Amino acid sequence: MNGYMGDMDDIDRDETMELQGFVPKEPSSEELEKSRQRYRERLELYKKFGYDREKAIEFVVDSAEPIEEPVLDVGTGSGLTAVELARRGHHVTSVDISDDALQTAYVNAKAAQVADRIAFKLIDGMSLPFEARHFKLVTMVNVLHHLEEFVPLLREISRVLSPEGKLLVADFTEEGFDIIERVLRSEGNDHSRGGGHTIDDVAEVIHKHGMQCKLRDARFHEQVLVALKVSH
Ligand SMILES: C[S@@+](CC[C@H](N)C(=O)[O-])C[C@H]1O[C@@H](n2cnc3c(N)ncnc32)[C@H](O)[C@@H]1O
Repeated sequence: MNGYMGDMDDIDRDETMELQGFVPKEPSSEELEKSRQRYRERLELYKKFGYDREKAIEFVVDSAEPIEEPVLDVGTGSGLTAVELARRGHHVTSVDISDDALQTAYVNAKAAQVADRIAFKLIDGMSLPFEARHFKLVTMVNVLHHLEEFVPLLREISRVLSPEGKLLVADFTEEGFDIIERVLRSEGNDHSRGGGHTIDDVAEVIHKHGMQCKLRDARFHEQVLVALKVSH
């Protein structure tokens, strides 16, 4: 299953395929204020346990610099990465399989006053309805450990990356996972590690999917891998 399945770059998805609808609900000014307050509270809570979310996301996004558009963020979640990219002035297409996550990301982007630079789409990263070679940067931050299988996603990302385009994959370090688990336990929640895939697993197979690893780094309890799409 994990083997190389051929050059997916040569296959364009049906361009007439409709992007699945996601219509964000406009938040009221109270909801925006609540979102700002919740953001500050979560920041403090994570800091108390030793994880500085702001520093972590800055480090992760810095690893992809210099950034060229178009940019795709896969598994947007509550939007930390997409909002950081948009804060830096970039236009981002954000995809997630959960419309609750997209709505949260939309409210967070509104609260940060960058929602006009982010297009939110309800789309599975395993089947991206975008043309081949379209994006100059694809980011996938703290998503890997949620996936039962990551190779189909890697293959799909490689297809939509332009030649010399960049993939940024980031996930928690072991210590980072411990912290997140302790934070969530403190609130009576569990943290699932899905298939338990790691950045090392991605690094091992990335060359089979038309990409070359350019950078590995770890700081602020996040580890990153940046790979370039091999041009041919
Ligand atoms: C922890 S969140 C990601 C955090 C986010 N990237 C950030 O920077 O804040 C993981 C997200 O990945 C999404 N996800 C999982 N599998 C996916 C898939 N196949 N395609 C798109 N999104 C997916 C989940 O719905 C969830 O919202």
